Order: sequence, then structure tokens, then C-alpha cells
Amino acid sequence: MMNEYYPNFAIIKEIKKETINTNTFVLKFTDQKIADKFSWKPGQFMMLSVLGVGESAISISSVENDNSINATIRNVGNVTNSIFSLKKGDSLGMRGPYGTGWPLEKIIGKDILIVAGGMGLAPLYGVINHVIRNRTEYGHLEIIYGARTPENMVFKDEFSKWKRIKNSTFFLTADEITRENPFECRTGLVTSCFPMMKTHHRNAIALLCGPEIMMRFAAKCLETIGFADKKIYLSLERRMKCGIGKCGHCQIGLKYVCKDGPVFNYDDIKPFIRPL
Ligand SMILES: Cc1cc2nc3c(=O)[nH]c(=O)nc-3n(C[C@H](O)[C@H](O)[C@H](O)COP(=O)(O)OP(=O)(O)OC[C@H]3O[C@@H](n4cnc5c(N)ncnc54)[C@H](O)[C@@H]3O)c2cc1C
Ligand code: FES
Repeated sequence: MMNEYYPNFAIIKEIKKETINTNTFVLKFTDQKIADKFSWKPGQFMMLSVLGVGESAISISSVENDNSINATIRNVGNVTNSIFSLKKGDSLGMRGPYGTGWPLEKIIGKDILIVAGGMGLAPLYGVINHVIRNRTEYGHLEIIYGARTPENMVFKDEFSKWKRIKNSTFFLTADEITRENPFECRTGLVTSCFPMMKTHHRNAIALLCGPEIMMRFAAKCLETIGFADKKIYLSLERRMKCGIGKCGHCQIGLKYVCKDGPVFNYDDIKPFIRPL
């Protein structure tokens, strides 16, 4: 019988620096058959492992034509630190994809509001690419991205392209701007952009990802401007062990974040996340 916890090996094809403590790792399964079979949805995640250290849940930010997986990782602790010690050509363990993705089929024909904070842009990067590739299927696209400083922002190379997406609005905002401001960032929290946004709740769906406090604030502000809870989706982060709904580590209410999430409809999950 197949052991679901058994990782496959993946080789690091490229490492791209995003910020002082964040890199995008381009990972390819060493077994070509596994690479060929790989399919995913934006919002899903992989379990990446370093032998003798442990495993971490990491979102799939994008997948290339040869099915190499882009994983944008912030170096915060044991596993991520070990991954950062690896070089191009080294290998690590990888299993997945796991979890639900963003409801891309359900939101066809709608305006899309993306609100992302810090690393929260990683699982939403695939949504932005999907909307770019299928531009006529979706209405207005509004992206609001915030981070502590402009230097802390990920995917900076994409910003000029995203500013030119047809029928879209793009706001960048930082808690503080200490040095230069190359992307015309505003100062303030993501919610400070809400009074200027074009999106009207009538035909829009909001997709949120970032620190939980940011998502709770953003969801509350969206409610006050008329967004129904069922029109808001968010991606939750919990500490994970198995990643496949067996161990209960990521349980929230009656749901498992790894299996039933990480993307949830706000209406379903609201009772289980701490109110403001
Ligand atoms: C669905 C999902 C998707 C994710 N996607 C990404 C992604 O794309 N990129 C990314 O960089 N990260 C992502 N993460 C977060 C990532 O999984 C964690 O940052 C990573 O597992 C940390 O592992 P570590 O061993 O390096 O850190 P650890 O050594 O586990 O420490 C990480 C931090 O957590 C604290 N900590 C340690 N143990 C606990 C505990 N029991 N309870 C609370 N805090 C604790 C530590 O003090 C430290 O600040 C995602 C998480 C989930 C659930
Ligand atoms: S991580 Fe084990 S049940 Fe979710």
C-alpha cells in the first residue's frame, strides 16, 4: 500500500532572491513520471521536507511549463532555515499538492478584489496569473498588496506588469517607508486603500490572504461597505503535521485547515476565528 507520508525527491533548479529573508525556489520532481502527472490549483500547498529536520507547508505560487513548482519561502525557523542552506542542484522532499484552492470556477464573471499582506501574496500569485491568462472570463481586477516596508514585498518584478493588466487597479501600501520608494507605495495598512478602491460589492468576490489579524480587519471593513460574508474567501494558516487530515494539528472548529482549507468561505469559518 502507498504510504501517504512518503515524500518524493525534488531538485532545486533555481533560487531567486525576493527579499532579505525570502527566496523563490524552483523545484522539480526528480521522477519525471511524477512531474508529468502533477496538477494543481492556485491556493493549494506542498509539504516540503529536509531529512532529519522536518516538514513545512508551503504554497504553490506558480507552476512552469515543465511542471517545475515555484515555492516562495520566508526563512523563519528550523525547516525553512535548512531549506535556505541548500543550493541549486541539491534535493529536498516534496509531497502534495494538498488542500482546497481559490474558487476560480465559481467566480467566473465576477469582479475580483485581492487583498494580500506580506507572504500572503504567494498563494494569490496563481490567481493573478490565472486572471491574466483568462482575462475575458472575469470582471474588474483590483489588487491591494501591503507589507511592512517596500523592501519586504515579494514578487516585485511583477509589479510593472500587474499595473498594466486591462480593466484593473493595483495598490501597494507599506506600514513604513524608510528608504527609497521605487513602486510608488502608499503608507498605511491595506484597509487604508479601501476608500479609494473601485470594486463595488454588488458583483464582486474578495480573496484575502495574509496575517490573520489583517484578514479579520479587512473582512470586517468589507462587511461595513456591504460585502456579504459569503462573498469573502480567505486562506488560513495553521501549524501542520500530516497535511492530509489525519493528525488533527490544524483543526479549527470542525474543520481541518489542511484538508477542508486552507481556503475557506468567510461565512463558514467566521465562528471559528477569533473576533476582533
Ligand atoms: C497552507 C499554508 C501555506 C503556507 N505557505 C507558505 C509560503 O508559501 N511561504 C512561506 O514562507 N510560508 C508558508 N507557510 C508558513 C510555513 O509553513 C511556516 O512558516 C513554516 O512551516 C515554518 O517552519 P520552520 O520549521 O521553518 O519554522 P519553526 O521552527 O516551526 O518556527 C516558525 C515560527 O513559528 C514559531 N513557532 C514554532 N513552533 C510553534 C508552535 N507550536 N506554535 C506557534 N508558533 C510556533 C517560531 O517561534 C517561529 O517564529 C504556509 C503555511 C500554511 C499552513
Ligand atoms: S495537519 Fe494533520 S490534520 Fe491537518
